[in-house]
Amino acid sequence: MKAEEKKQIYNLIKTISQGIYGYTPDAFTHEDPVFKDDFISEGLNKKTSPITENQTTINSIPHDETKKVVSLAAISSKIQACTRCRLAATRTNTVPGTGVEKPLVLVIGEGPGYEEDQQALPFVGAAGELLDKMLASICLSRNQNCYIANIVKCRPPQNRDPQPDEIQACISYLDAQITLLKPKMILLMGRIAGQTIFKTNRGISSFRGEIINYNGIPAMATYHPSALLRNTELKAPAWEDLKKFRAELLKIDPDYQHSFVKE
Ligand code: URA
Repeated sequence: MKAEEKKQIYNLIKTISQGIYGYTPDAFTHEDPVFKDDFISEGLNKKTSPITENQTTINSIPHDETKKVVSLAAISSKIQACTRCRLAATRTNTVPGTGVEKPLVLVIGEGPGYEEDQQALPFVGAAGELLDKMLASICLSRNQNCYIANIVKCRPPQNRDPQPDEIQACISYLDAQITLLKPKMILLMGRIAGQTIFKTNRGISSFRGEIINYNGIPAMATYHPSALLRNTELKAPAWEDLKKFRAELLKIDPDYQHSFVKE
């Protein structure tokens, strides 16, 4: 193998590990190893590597470490132990997410509220009840074909907006969840989820209802159920968004509604 190929693989594993762990694992905190081309040793016709003893080789990367964290349960454990931002000090519970393991749709909210913090589950308060109704209206459910997660996994005090540094500290958990869950579509509930995923400061009314490619996954933002509870005039445009979302989903999986059971 060529040195350049080894370097590319090393960098790939490093990036994936950072995404999964949310920080740079010990194996990658030292200087990058020096890679050299393999060569065929004359006469023996056997591949050997001209690497000196004290150089780190690609073979020393702990592949099993990478495999070990590739599960939702492992991400949840990391979240439960997380102290990366100030929200850790005021939470009762972390709220990693809930739903099916191979979801058609990943629903992303903003962050846990009081009830979610108490129960360690996303969207279980009044907004959660409405969210379940919104999803059911287009044959989606956290029990059948969705996974529900949030931008931040701990409750911001007094339900204030999560701050940019809190989002920054937490976002790699969501990235790892998306990588593992491989949803066919993403539904973003509200301004914070939309702005974070689409990396914009625009107001939600300027991009809601638009299907936007997020790393190869079609994603759409709509109004947060809490906003609909505060302002019922938003229900009609939210329903338009949901119909658009369903139409896009039917292009990807024309049968998805047939297997849905009303709960
Ligand atoms: N609002 C959110 O954005 N997420 C929850 O989990 C609950 C309320």
